[in-house]
Amino acid sequence: MNLKDLYINYFVSIGHKQIPSAPVVPENDPSVLFNTAGMQPLVPYLMGETHPYGARLCDYQKCIRTNDLDEIGDTTHHTFFEMLGNWSLGDYFKDESILYSFNFLTKVLNIPLEKLAVTVFAGNNDIPFDSESYNKWLSLGLKKERIAKTSDDNFWIAGDVGPCGSDTEIFYFRSNEEIPEVFDPDDDRWVEIWNNVFMEFYKDKDGKISNLSKKNVDTGMGVERVTAILEGVNDNYLSSIWIDVIKLIEEISGKKYNGNEKSMRIIADHLRTAVFISSDEAGIKPSNTDQGYILRRLIRRVIRHAKKLEIDPNSDFDIKIASLIIDKYKDYYKEIAKNKEVVFEVLKNEKTKFNKTLEKGLKEFSKITKNNKNINGDVAFHLYDTYGFPIELTTELAGELEIEVDIEGFNRKFREHQELSRSASSGKFKGGLASTGDMEIKYHTATHLLNAALKVVVGPDVHQMGSNITSERMRFDFSCDHKLSDEEKKKVEELVNKWIEADLIVEKCEMNKEEAINSGAECMFIEKYPDIVTVYKIGDVSKELCGGPHVKNTKVLGKFKIKKEESSSSGVRRIKAVLL
Ligand code: SER
Repeated sequence: MNLKDLYINYFVSIGHKQIPSAPVVPENDPSVLFNTAGMQPLVPYLMGETHPYGARLCDYQKCIRTNDLDEIGDTTHHTFFEMLGNWSLGDYFKDESILYSFNFLTKVLNIPLEKLAVTVFAGNNDIPFDSESYNKWLSLGLKKERIAKTSDDNFWIAGDVGPCGSDTEIFYFRSNEEIPEVFDPDDDRWVEIWNNVFMEFYKDKDGKISNLSKKNVDTGMGVERVTAILEGVNDNYLSSIWIDVIKLIEEISGKKYNGNEKSMRIIADHLRTAVFISSDEAGIKPSNTDQGYILRRLIRRVIRHAKKLEIDPNSDFDIKIASLIIDKYKDYYKEIAKNKEVVFEVLKNEKTKFNKTLEKGLKEFSKITKNNKNINGDVAFHLYDTYGFPIELTTELAGELEIEVDIEGFNRKFREHQELSRSASSGKFKGGLASTGDMEIKYHTATHLLNAALKVVVGPDVHQMGSNITSERMRFDFSCDHKLSDEEKKKVEELVNKWIEADLIVEKCEMNKEEAINSGAECMFIEKYPDIVTVYKIGDVSKELCGGPHVKNTKVLGKFKIKKEESSSSGVRRIKAVLL
């Protein structure tokens, strides 16, 4: 049985419900491009909302992290990975959480205790030393030399704001050398395999920490890493997760993995991620913004590394590899089998597009680099704009020749470029170039106006049930028991446009939760909010609890148009709308 099945079986056997993996593109969180951890889709529940499956949950979650895209090609980094997790939502806490992890590792996976070590939270000015975890580990037989107390590494939060808490991290000794008596977390023969976070706090944007309504547990274990460890390989790509993909790339290229590791790993990793992004229900297609831009970069990098391996970029090498990947995962993720043709279509189209300019672009690149020891922003932008070279491709090619690229100059130029400038400002891509955009922010403000207009036109009982925003459109789910008539839709549209035209001021204020609710502010799940909340007011037409961000004045939204109104589920209708 593989790790995922063992994990789920074990946690189900001790009263956990398995929940399905959420899509890789978060449904209601325009502040991040992809789910980066198993807990991300569970934030509302960690904040106190009741989960329909109960208080003990487990899953494997599709995650994507693109901030260290440049590291792909080494033995351990991946852009896509699966995270195993178990959660207690106000049910068990440190004692059982540690016991369950211990039992799974030592009794199900049969890892000798000798090979394990842990860190626990040493305490800081706000939160005391976690003696409970420390003592629990001791009671389970771990020697005190194998329990390290640290502070900075033992406090976990996704980003800067949100549910958080101290954690205990479990390490495995991944080496044949003699195991040192005293555990040193900085000794890289010890690799972290599992993180148990005791989520009892909420950190707001000013860094203030308050208690959550319940004490939760959030744990996470990376499937790739632990599989490699269990199989005793030091290169993840030699584990059962990857080995047949690597073999296929060897077969297609007629080259050996040995000596071509970097390109083969990049092709394997990036194609797997491209399969998972393009099969996701969010319907992402390669583009120049947001998730679509990541997808584009991944596919283009695959093509360029295929060329390095002398694979014909016009052949269907990518489809063959993607098919194998789909076969490997289809029993776990139904959407990738269902959307197989979509994935192939995405790969084919992007390949055709890029192949048209790649050859010329590479020629141009050689010409440029023949006489120059660096590439300025204008030239990098020219390669991007004319030949479709993502800046990362230019820097990668330049890096191979030890040539510098003026990335800042490129970014400046990029921002000036009108269509792309809208995605350049908000920090969704850490360290990358394209970022989130003004468009998502506009759509976010538009959802507030739509919510308010529906209340006026359809009735005060309409409430938001969900929303999903991309740079291209908004989707808004709301409680309503009937299909909207054409008349209603028209009125809603007119009202939203009237408010946009009136150039209403969008104001942000902080107040205590009670006060906000009493003043009639709209909110989706009151329990999920901390005591002090942020409220966004738009003129005097809308007032909602919300974390933002929003535009400053409504006029910038342009023209609001409803594209579709349909049923979402029983008692819930869905509107798809665009800003023109
Ligand atoms: N959220 C924690 C992590 O990502 C545990 O799942 O490490």
